[in-house]
Amino acid sequence: MTVFSVLIINFVSLKYDIMALHEIVRRVTTHVLHEMKLKGEKIAMLTAYDYSMARILDEAGIDIILVGDSASNVMAGHDTTLPITLEQMINHAGSVVRAVKRALIVVDLPFGTYQGNSKEALTSAIRIMKETGAHAVKMEGGQEIQESVMRILSAGIPVMGHLGLTPQSIHKFGTYVVRARDEKEAQKLVEDAHILEETGCFGLVLEKIPASLGQKVAKELKIPVIGIGAGPDVDGQVLVLHDMLGITQEFSPRFLRRYHNLHAEIKGAVQNYIQDVRTLQFPDEKEQY
Ligand code: KIV
Repeated sequence: MTVFSVLIINFVSLKYDIMALHEIVRRVTTHVLHEMKLKGEKIAMLTAYDYSMARILDEAGIDIILVGDSASNVMAGHDTTLPITLEQMINHAGSVVRAVKRALIVVDLPFGTYQGNSKEALTSAIRIMKETGAHAVKMEGGQEIQESVMRILSAGIPVMGHLGLTPQSIHKFGTYVVRARDEKEAQKLVEDAHILEETGCFGLVLEKIPASLGQKVAKELKIPVIGIGAGPDVDGQVLVLHDMLGITQEFSPRFLRRYHNLHAEIKGAVQNYIQDVRTLQFPDEKEQY
């Protein structure tokens, strides 16, 4: 083999390596999500709040990671999503961003950082984008937050809407029951969905509403509609990671499918470790220097 042919072979294999790498890390963007809706490809979204979990989700091929304000419940142990602060969300989001190569990362604007004051909303969204490197923010509400949504969009920050059961308004609802069962509330939800799309949101989360209403909204909107308890006929699904892995035990709504019982597995592993330490089984000869 001549030096020239070795050079050619190396060049060709380098080209394919770069192409393969490009293929592997093709990032999910809002444009990709829009294409997925057009092609009828379902979008898979999960929450994550830390580096290690986000890395596993990204390697598994998840399309969207939501740094949800459900961190207030599953990470901080609060009863509601209301207490979590912007600083805490920024910390969670920064850890997730450092782990992720492919997924689109959306961060919840926490309660009290955007409602009623569009200037403050923009400041909050800019802090999230600047200090974490995330790709988009999510906000709960319809027509009443339109001005804030518009202002954030005008700064070039993609916004995802969230309608139906909006946990930041839990004290207004008084309960976590299914939303928009009655005609009036369903009609308002459909109107709000159109307002959010027309204002420029790139996607919408619908939480805990009748499946028929989820289907109607997904059909009427051009932007992807991601459901959590909104039936199968939406453009994608989202679950809280700690719920679907069975780390949390107390929360069991009908829409939740548990893919694992990590609570029992982790507890069992920790009990085995305690036992090994107490009975001098750990460390053994191979586990020392
Ligand atoms: O904070 C969150 O986890 C969410 C999901 C329930 C969609 O908003």
